[in-house]
Amino acid sequence: MNPHVIIDASYFAAAFLFIYGLKRMSSPVTARSGIVVAGWGMAVATLASFLYYFGVPAEVKPHLTVNIILAAVALAIGLAWAWRSGKTVPMTAMPQMVAIYNGLGGGAAALIAAVELLGAHANGYVELVVTIVGALIGSISFSGSVIAWAKLDGRINKTWRIKGQQVMNATVMLIALAIGAWIIFGMQGHAPALLVIGFFAAALVFGVLMTMPIGGADMPVVISLYNAFTGLAVGMEGFVLQNPALMIAGMVVGSAGTLLTLLMAKAMNRSVSNVIFSNFGVVGDEGQGEIKGSLKPAEAGDAAVQMRYASKVIIAPGYGLAVAQAQHKLYEFVKLLQEHGVEVKFAIHPVAGRMPGHMNVLLAEAGVPYDIIYDLEDINGEFATADVAVVVGANDTVNPAARTNKSSPIYGMPILNVDQAKQVYVIKRGQGKGYSGVENELFYKDNCNLVYGDAQKVMVAMIQAVKSLEG
Ligand code: TAP
Repeated sequence: MNPHVIIDASYFAAAFLFIYGLKRMSSPVTARSGIVVAGWGMAVATLASFLYYFGVPAEVKPHLTVNIILAAVALAIGLAWAWRSGKTVPMTAMPQMVAIYNGLGGGAAALIAAVELLGAHANGYVELVVTIVGALIGSISFSGSVIAWAKLDGRINKTWRIKGQQVMNATVMLIALAIGAWIIFGMQGHAPALLVIGFFAAALVFGVLMTMPIGGADMPVVISLYNAFTGLAVGMEGFVLQNPALMIAGMVVGSAGTLLTLLMAKAMNRSVSNVIFSNFGVVGDEGQGEIKGSLKPAEAGDAAVQMRYASKVIIAPGYGLAVAQAQHKLYEFVKLLQEHGVEVKFAIHPVAGRMPGHMNVLLAEAGVPYDIIYDLEDINGEFATADVAVVVGANDTVNPAARTNKSSPIYGMPILNVDQAKQVYVIKRGQGKGYSGVENELFYKDNCNLVYGDAQKVMVAMIQAVKSLEG
C-alpha cells in the first residue's frame, strides 16, 4: 500500500484522538482517560511521520536515513526524559514542568521555521509570512517560558523592572518585525544566515523582556498565554510543512490555551493585557495598609469538636493542602463529620494552588465525590449560612483585601467569602504569607482563629479528637 495513504489515515486518526481526548478533559470524571487518549493520538502522529521514509524516491533515501536516525535518537532522549520527569515531579512543581514543556514546543516550531528560512524552502509570500509569524511567536514562547519556568522553580527570584521598560520592549519587537518584513519582502526568503539569526535573536530577547517584569501571582496566566502561542506557532509551521497533524494539534492547543488564558484572567478579574503590562503580583509593602485586630490561635481538637456539632461546614483548600499532601486525611475527617450528620461542602477557587484544577485533582485523588465540590460562584453565597468555614492552607484566595482594599495589589480578584461564616478556622504552619506576598486581614478578624501546624498533622489531630468523643 502507498505509505502516503497510511500516513494520511494515521493523521486523521490522530486528529480524532486529540479532539476526543480534549473533550474528555472537560470533566474531572473523564479527564484522566482524556489525557491517555490524546497521548495515543500523539503516538500515532509521531510514528506515522516515520513512514515518510518509505514514500520517497530511492535516490533521496540515503540522505533521509540520517534524518530518520537523528529523529529516532531525539525521540528516545525525549521519551526517557519525559517519562522520568513525569514520574518524579511533585504535584506542586507541575506549573514549572508545564512551562518548560510548553516552551520546548514553541522552540521546536521556531526551529522548523529556521530550517525553512536558512534553506530558503518557503515559496511565495503567504508561506513566507506564515513561516516568519510562526517563528516569531514560537521564539517568544520558548524564551518567555524558560523565564517563567526559572521564576516558578525559584531559580530567578527577582522581578526585573526598569524605567522605560515598555519602550524598550516595543523597540525590540519593532526590530524583529522589521527584519522579518525585510526577509519576506526585501529578499523573498533568500536571506543570509546572519539576518535570520538577527531575527531570531530579537524575537528571543523580546520573550525574555516580556516575562521578566511579570510577578509570581500572574505566572499561571502567562504560562497559559505562552501555551496558546506555542499552539499557534506549531499550527503555522504545520501549514508551511503541509503536515495536517501539526496543523490540527497546533490549532487545538492554540484555541484551548487561548480559552484557558481568558478564563484565568477572568477568574482574577483582570484583562490579559493588564496581566502582561501592569506588573500585578509584584508586591512591595506599599498599599497593604495597617491591619486591625490580633491573631488568635486555637487547638486542632477544639476546632474539630466545634465542627462535629455544627450543621454546616465549608472547606476552602489551597496550596498548603498540596504541600502537606493532606487530602486523604482531610477526606477521612470529612467522612467522620458526615457520619455525625454535618453537611460538608468544598469551595474551590479557580486559582487555588499552583495550577488550574489543582485542588480538583487533589480531592479526586482522595476520592472526594464531585457532588460536594463547588466552584466559587456556586458556593460564595452559602458562606453566610455556614457555621464553620475551614481554610486548609489557602491564603490569597480567601483574602478580603481583594474585595475592600483598593490599594491592595490583589484588589479586584474574586475571593471565597469565608469571612462571612459564623466561625473561621485557618490551618497553616505559621506567619507565612500567600503566593502574592500580601498580608491577610482575614486572620485578624474577630470570628477567625488560627490552627497552627502542617495541614496533615492538624487533620490527624482533628480526626483523633472527634473519634475520642465516641469514647
Ligand atoms: P497561597 O496564597 O499560596 O497560600 C498558601 C498558604 O499555605 C500559605 O499562607 C502557607 O502559610 C500555607 N502552607 C504552606 N504549606 C503548608 C503546610 N504544609 N500545611 C499547612 N499550610 C501550609 O494559596 P492559595 O490561597 O491556594 O492561593 C494560590 C495563589 O497562587 C494565588 O495567589 C494564585 O494567583 C497563585 N497561583 C495560582 C496558580 C493556579 S493556576 N492555581 C498558579 C501559580 C500561582 P504558612 O507558610 O504559614 O504555612
